[in-house]
Amino acid sequence: MNSTPARLKVCIVGASGKLGQYMVRHALDRGYEVVGVCREASVDKLDAFKDRITIVPGATDDREVIKRAVAGCDAVLTVLVPRGVHNYSTGTAQAVLDYARPAARLMFSCGYHISRDGQDVYSWKVKALVSVVGRLARLARLVDLEDQVEACRRVFASDTQWTVVRGSDLEEGDSQGLPVWSRHVGDPILKSNLTRRVDFALFMVDAIVNDSLVHEAPAIVGCQTPSALAYAVTSPR
Ligand SMILES: NC(=O)c1ccc[n+]([C@@H]2O[C@H](COP(=O)([O-])OP(=O)(O)OC[C@H]3O[C@@H](n4cnc5c(N)ncnc54)[C@H](OP(=O)(O)O)[C@@H]3O)[C@@H](O)[C@H]2O)c1
Repeated sequence: MNSTPARLKVCIVGASGKLGQYMVRHALDRGYEVVGVCREASVDKLDAFKDRITIVPGATDDREVIKRAVAGCDAVLTVLVPRGVHNYSTGTAQAVLDYARPAARLMFSCGYHISRDGQDVYSWKVKALVSVVGRLARLARLVDLEDQVEACRRVFASDTQWTVVRGSDLEEGDSQGLPVWSRHVGDPILKSNLTRRVDFALFMVDAIVNDSLVHEAPAIVGCQTPSALAYAVTSPR
């Protein structure tokens, strides 16, 4: 009898962005079947993959688009984008929560500013930045950080198989390997506050097969950063 495991089918919501494209690449490298959702105007950003993935064009907060894209998927990786002031992130997250299979692994990306349990410790600089830049961006109707907060609140409250991955500041560059993580911003291991974007994507894709991350909100940092190297062994995680 052939016991080859079935090929995993993975939906990437927000596939055309920088993080999204890295996730597509990692998922294909692992032999997964990939369905990518991106805005109609961005479909050509996925040209490099077009023969190897299924693309579902449309706004990621369009419930019908998401329903179609996540059908039959074992995992859904969602880039939560707090763009505009019309609850784009919340609409995207809610559609994924509503339409993904109950047993599907769901990963959502966001930043350190999201707190699951209020135990994160932020420097005054970060607090000021989030408050001032957040307000200015909302006034300019560009970005609404509160939308990402609400999206994550709904994810945390759901009974799905979720993981919310909280990214540090990001940089480009070759992969350094799987980032390390901690439950709370402010923990010494995260002090360097820097991750390669390609490795943020790696963490999202790797989480598909890491059940210990179910119902966790890992804050990640590059595994080669000074704080990761200094604290990785002793960190309680
Ligand atoms: N940038 C950082 O320093 C940073 C730090 C920590 C965490 N994060 C998290 O990482 C994730 C992605 O970050 P990233 O910087 O790498 O960005 P990214 O991958 O380039 O993602 C940007 C996403 O936003 C979409 N987008 C752009 N303009 C839009 C609009 N007007 N309306 C709707 N969607 C729009 C893009 O879609 P199109 O391709 O269609 O334009 C793309 O899917 C987010 O969850 C973010 O919270 C970022």
